[in-house]
Amino acid sequence: MDNLLSMEHLSEADIMRIIKRALDFKENGVQPFEEKKYIANLFFENSTRTKTSFEMAEAKLGISSIPFDVNFSSVSKGETLYDTCKTMEALGCDGLVIRHSENKYYEQLVGLGIPVINGGDGSGSHPTQSLLDLMTIYEQFGTFKGLDVVIAGDIIHSRVAHSNQQALEKLGANVVFSAPPEWQEAHQGDAYRVLDEALAEADVIMLLRVQHERHDIRARFTKDDYNRLYGMNMKRYDRMKKNAIIMHPAPVNRGMEISEELVEGEQSVIFRQMKNGVFVRMSVLTEILGSAG
Ligand code: CP
Repeated sequence: MDNLLSMEHLSEADIMRIIKRALDFKENGVQPFEEKKYIANLFFENSTRTKTSFEMAEAKLGISSIPFDVNFSSVSKGETLYDTCKTMEALGCDGLVIRHSENKYYEQLVGLGIPVINGGDGSGSHPTQSLLDLMTIYEQFGTFKGLDVVIAGDIIHSRVAHSNQQALEKLGANVVFSAPPEWQEAHQGDAYRVLDEALAEADVIMLLRVQHERHDIRARFTKDDYNRLYGMNMKRYDRMKKNAIIMHPAPVNRGMEISEELVEGEQSVIFRQMKNGVFVRMSVLTEILGSAG
């Protein structure tokens, strides 16, 4: 695999190979690369989990993470994304992890001679989040085929929803959505359900963060109203199947997408998702940069 840009580009075999290697790393540990490798993590949008878990994965593989802070870079002098990336290549980086607000920013990077791992592009794709979500689902159920998954919340702005829909349908899961009308995507039309009905059948309830920075949600919903109408709360929790799981990519708006007492509840795997993110990113880095020695 030369790059990881979107889940659309991965076959079922690619996905299963990455997940199974991540599960092996989790169970048996990992040996660092024998040859020295250098990665720059270029984050043009804020991040806690994705950036830090790539840094952790790189440390465990013995890869040097080259510091880059967009606020102190020559981007402020007008340097383009392409020239920033070409500079990293010229300086000796073996690969780049990039998060950027522009959908499909990576289409500007044709001509780059080093691999790119997409850490999230606007509302487009978030492939490593999807892979860690898939790893967590597979760890729980041992299969994707026939699982009922409901993705709920701010669908239209969510790269996580887009990547997970592509991947889960490819793997044989049944995906439906639940969202306020203004956050539904027209082309998904008949896949929308009322959450109270969908969650009673669901094996996986995947909540999405309300992306305040991409719209003015507060104009229509208070936190409590959103939770009552569209979020996970104790009333809905009682209707879930007993072996179903609650997922959320985080950061979580506690009390909004999910009631405070459920975030770390028995059926929540939110912090397990984050933990699995390190193993998935180690697996992706191994896939892209070559076998760990
Ligand atoms: N889930 C996720 O991508 O979190 P960060 O924005 O903190 O990286």
